[in-house]
Amino acid sequence: MRLEPPCKVTEEKLTFDIQEIEPLLQAPPMAMKPWPEAMCTLKDGRVLYIREAKPEDVPLMLEYMERVMKVDHDFYDIVGARIYAEILGWHRKRLKDPFQLVGLIDGEWAGFANGRMFSKDIGISLHTMTFARGGRLGWVMYYAKTYYVLDILGAQEWWSTFESHNGWKMAGLEMAQPMKPWPQMQHELGGAPIYYLNQKYWQKVIRNFLRTMIGTELTFDVPEEVKKKNATFRIPKEVVV
Ligand SMILES: CC(C)(COP(=O)(O)OP(=O)(O)OC[C@H]1O[C@@H](n2cnc3c(N)ncnc32)[C@H](O)[C@@H]1OP(=O)(O)O)[C@@H](O)C(=O)NCCC(=O)NCCS
Repeated sequence: MRLEPPCKVTEEKLTFDIQEIEPLLQAPPMAMKPWPEAMCTLKDGRVLYIREAKPEDVPLMLEYMERVMKVDHDFYDIVGARIYAEILGWHRKRLKDPFQLVGLIDGEWAGFANGRMFSKDIGISLHTMTFARGGRLGWVMYYAKTYYVLDILGAQEWWSTFESHNGWKMAGLEMAQPMKPWPQMQHELGGAPIYYLNQKYWQKVIRNFLRTMIGTELTFDVPEEVKKKNATFRIPKEVVV
């Protein structure tokens, strides 16, 4: 847009450093406690190690997600495409207070869960995905990010929505999450209804979900041996979902 100035000016042009523009494009980050490393034993005996994704993981994560988004069943395509954008949004600093957890089995990427903080009181669930199906790995990843937001970061509410039947079954149905009024309130993922957990329901009921539904527990005391086995991040050779 261009208008004539309502006053005489001595400089017809102002220039800006890119470094000056960037703070206006990046949301100022909140101070967030990091996710401590965790692990659990899956029902088939495999050990799932969960840590925050690191910037150096990004190229491999994007490479794999590019392949996953071509899978045309069970909503892997739309969820894959959105996860690709969210990984890039985190990497290029175009998401407000995001977090991404990667689940590894012997170093191989097996599960993903991410979200972002809308404010200190509201956490937004973005996506959960498993690349090794049949082990309820998605449930553990979703539970881990819920635990992070409600227990570690201390948010009051956790807002999710579900693009897939399996996602809805895992958390909407099995966790019996109530919904906010719709269409007055809409989730940022496509305007779908917001399913939510609050502190009261989390503390009283859902905190025990993993133990009762999957028969496992997260432990934050990760032995050196497990850390060593997962020291190098690898993507699976094939997409087998
Ligand atoms: C949603 C998701 C994270 C759920 O995690 P999960 O329950 O550990 O995932 P799985 O896909 O292994 O199992 C889900 C169901 O799919 C079926 N399933 C299992 N293995 C399967 C396979 N190899 N092929 C097709 N279906 C399979 C089973 O019916 C299973 O139900 P069960 O738990 O009663 O056995 C996972 O299905 C996924 O990554 N989906 C694609 C991305 C997605 O939709 N994310 C959620 C967005 S809302």
